[in-house]
Amino acid sequence: MMTQQVSALNTIDSSWLQRFRRNLRRWHEKHGRDLPWRNIGEPYRVWISEIMLQQTTVVAVVPYFNRFLDRFPTIRSLAAADENEVLRHWEGLGYYSRARNIHKTAQQLVELNGGEFPCDVKQLQQLPGIGRYTAGAIASFAFDRPAPIVEANTLRLYCRLVGYADDPRTAAGQRLLWEFAERLLPRKSSGRFNQALMDLGATRCTPTKPDCATCPVRSCCRAVAEGSQDSIPMKAVRPQITNIAEAVVAVRRNGRYLLRQIPDGRRWAGLWDFVRFPLDGHTSSKSPQLSEISSRLTEASGLIAEIGPRLAKINHSVTRYRIQLFCFPATYHSGVTPRTSTHRWVSPKQFADYPLSVTGRQFADLLVGS
Ligand code: ADE
Repeated sequence: MMTQQVSALNTIDSSWLQRFRRNLRRWHEKHGRDLPWRNIGEPYRVWISEIMLQQTTVVAVVPYFNRFLDRFPTIRSLAAADENEVLRHWEGLGYYSRARNIHKTAQQLVELNGGEFPCDVKQLQQLPGIGRYTAGAIASFAFDRPAPIVEANTLRLYCRLVGYADDPRTAAGQRLLWEFAERLLPRKSSGRFNQALMDLGATRCTPTKPDCATCPVRSCCRAVAEGSQDSIPMKAVRPQITNIAEAVVAVRRNGRYLLRQIPDGRRWAGLWDFVRFPLDGHTSSKSPQLSEISSRLTEASGLIAEIGPRLAKINHSVTRYRIQLFCFPATYHSGVTPRTSTHRWVSPKQFADYPLSVTGRQFADLLVGS
């Protein structure tokens, strides 16, 4: 391990560095991607895009980014918004704590820092939801500070450049890659340089079938020299997929349906949902008994209602779970819901005002149409 660490960084001497930077810059002038958040001097846009891009692809993010910026064009408009509306604009992107964090951070920056972002990496890292990579991205892309970056695209690129065959996700791997990123980065035009690294990683140095033939820095790449580009970086161990079953029940009373806000600390905290519960031990694709749904509904909500018939079965996957979701309408019979702002009887017309999970929205759309 130690020899890998030392020899990996030996790749960089001053002539290598000069060649690498020159070739990358020239390539980027012609082949850089034109993305809506690429504006030096606009930390707000860089920040929102980077948070959205965590765990999500560029193609999926672009329409969300544009809608979000139309509605919340400045940090002040975001800070002043209702959390429900922020979450509504995040709906479908997943990992909703990201949206709650940006809302909190916007409020914190407006209250304590005149709505301005710090440009220092260490200060940026103090803000909720901003780790080392995102801090480096904001500091370099928005303020042109020489802050290094390591994320999925650049991690892959660096591993191949230095021929790093060990696991890059370990502490030792991370130390080496951040050190490499630091040495690679020029003091001037650091933002553009980081964007070029990322574009090269995303469009040439791809996870499978890297396009080494058209890569501007192939002469600098140890993996190409060794023919090891297909086995580097070492693959992450994929988590085992678990099959589970859940039910979701829309209880109707006088034309309105019960929605409950999901408390902190739970999956989808802050979103709203119909009454949902796991169906432990249910392994077949046949519907569970209505009597079981009825008693589980009472357990989960205190309500007694007449269930069914089943409106849909939705198959969907979240992280390592493959979920069969059985969707039932129900007619309220008796029972009380807590008189709090987290329990509401909502008409189908108002569903659009509430942030729901992807399957919650699919079910809501079925109810509106039914
Ligand atoms: N992935 C993460 N951040 C990105 C960015 N700013 N541009 C393109 N892809 C990215």
